[in-house]
Amino acid sequence: MKTEVLGRLRRFWIGVAMFAFAAGGLAILAPEGNAEYADVVINNYSDKAGMRPVVFPHWFHRVRFRCKVCHADLGFQFKAGGNDINMVKIIEGQFCGACHNGEIAWSVENCNLCHSAVPNTPTQVHESTLQKLVAPAGDRKK
Ligand code: HEC
Ligand code: HEC
Ligand code: HEC
Repeated sequence: MKTEVLGRLRRFWIGVAMFAFAAGGLAILAPEGNAEYADVVINNYSDKAGMRPVVFPHWFHRVRFRCKVCHADLGFQFKAGGNDINMVKIIEGQFCGACHNGEIAWSVENCNLCHSAVPNTPTQVHESTLQKLVAPAGDRKK
């Protein structure tokens, strides 16, 4: 009798643990393509040019490269929107284009992977995980 209750309890806790594990796994998978805390939105030119603002996933890059690579070698300022970036410069290999060239990372043809913010989102460091930045594809009003 007692062992049966214990057995049920054990199964319950194994269930809870498995659920937590699965949810954790989903949380790791989910952020792809979405704005997270401390992502940078860059919108000095994009909206005016009819493109969605750029979402730069800072953490994604920070775990892969040293700060110095971008903030010293590539000249990125420690300020959201602090650089004068355009596509000619990127295609020439400056800023994002130093890596997004089809060699270190996927190349510039993938417009929507960078230009992914909700239209009219101002330049900022994204402070909240609740605020929605990324719009479904095709959402931009003409
Ligand atoms: C690796 C990231 C990345 C990709 C890929 C990318 N862009 Fe950009 N783009 C940027 C950044 C960063 C800026 C500067 C954003 C700002 O200040 O508004 C920018 C700015 C722009 C601008 C405004 C400035 C200018 O050059 O006229 C246009 C238009 C633009 N992109 C079009 C495109 C198109 C079209 C594609 C696909 C062929 C593309 N971008 C792909 C990062 C990217
Ligand atoms: C792959 C490139 C890259 C790497 C690596 C990188 N950053 Fe950044 N960082 C950027 C870009 C791009 C911006 C926005 C600049 C702009 O809008 O022109 C930025 C902005 C910032 C800002 C201002 C916005 C904010 O979050 O307050 C700080 C501070 C910063 N970075 C710190 C760091 C530190 C510390 C590291 C290393 C742990 C680091 N960065 C690594 C590219 C990078
Ligand atoms: C120092 C090299 C470097 C620079 C500079 C850089 N990136 Fe990246 N970026 C990468 C690498 C590597 C990946 C991963 C590529 C892959 O998974 O194939 C990546 C991936 C991304 C992703 C996809 C993230 C995800 O969740 O899959 C986005 C969006 C992105 N970069 C935007 C930018 C923008 C915008 C800039 C300029 C403001 C920039 N990157 C500058 C190296 C860089």
